[in-house]
Amino acid sequence: MSDQIKITIDGESIEVPKGTTILQAARMIGKNYPPAMCYYTPLKNTGGKCRVCLVKVAQASEANPRPMPKLVASCLTQAEHGMVVENESSPEVLEARNGVVEFLLINHPLDCPVCDQAGECDLQNLSFEHGRSETRYEEGRREFDKIDIGPFIQLHMTRCILCYRCVYLADQLTEKRVHGVINRGDVSEISTYIQNAIENDFSGNIIDVCPVGALTDKTYRFKQRVWFSKPFDAHRDCPKCTGKSVLWMKGQDIIRITSRKDKFGEVIDFICNECRFDHKEPHHWVIEGPRDMGEESVISANKYELPVVSPAVNVDAKFVSE
Ligand code: SF4
Ligand code: FES
Repeated sequence: MSDQIKITIDGESIEVPKGTTILQAARMIGKNYPPAMCYYTPLKNTGGKCRVCLVKVAQASEANPRPMPKLVASCLTQAEHGMVVENESSPEVLEARNGVVEFLLINHPLDCPVCDQAGECDLQNLSFEHGRSETRYEEGRREFDKIDIGPFIQLHMTRCILCYRCVYLADQLTEKRVHGVINRGDVSEISTYIQNAIENDFSGNIIDVCPVGALTDKTYRFKQRVWFSKPFDAHRDCPKCTGKSVLWMKGQDIIRITSRKDKFGEVIDFICNECRFDHKEPHHWVIEGPRDMGEESVISANKYELPVVSPAVNVDAKFVSE
């Protein structure tokens, strides 16, 4: 029997290997795939926390053509041969997604004007597409005692959506995880054990996987709105990681260094803390050229001649305006 199965999502069919989830199949089709705030391909066991990826299964499989009784999380549900899925074509899915976003926002401070993540925040994008213009929430929002988690990473617990990505990353990529989710229910919070600093090599990647502004780069705090900075692909010889990074420039100064992400917002190569925090001089890097952030990104707005075809070494190349 073939290891390929056929699934149809919003009227588009695709053959995928057995074991593929609905979300992965939708991403392979490449159009209108469900959003994901907790699932993260490079990290094992992620998904199933945020519920923004809910879809309707109108036909479970060729062998069982009945619909599934409830909406399902597409990041966890495996495709079956003959499965028919409705994502954006289903009003029920859109209504549920709007509801999930409303719940994600009930405790969120909505402080985008002062948040370093603004302009590259998945929750901001999600609220733009699925949010309400005003809140119906009357209760007080959650508050937390501020804790210092070290010299490199700023924690804003009020912005956290408890997706657990940073916890899985610290478990799977760093030598010793010193933070996690403590307490349960509406008092759950990200915290370090006994006020530890998060300083392991590779721990800076928790900044990149955080879908909101709960974990931001302390060395970049309030330096620039991201859409005024210019991202460049660059690399350096690094014994710990691939060294393939993105330099965020203001004039000739590097104001931030991050890992590179794919079009789903997922890190391609995790970089070490030395590349991220210790090499802020342009001569430490081989600059490959401007990074194409995709036309939808506010970071690209009025800045690049798209598509960026031939990356130049000159950091001023290809920009059409400051
Ligand atoms: S701090 Fe960020 S990555 Fe960690 S659980 Fe909260 S939202 Fe997710
Ligand atoms: S992405 Fe599927 S539950 Fe969060």
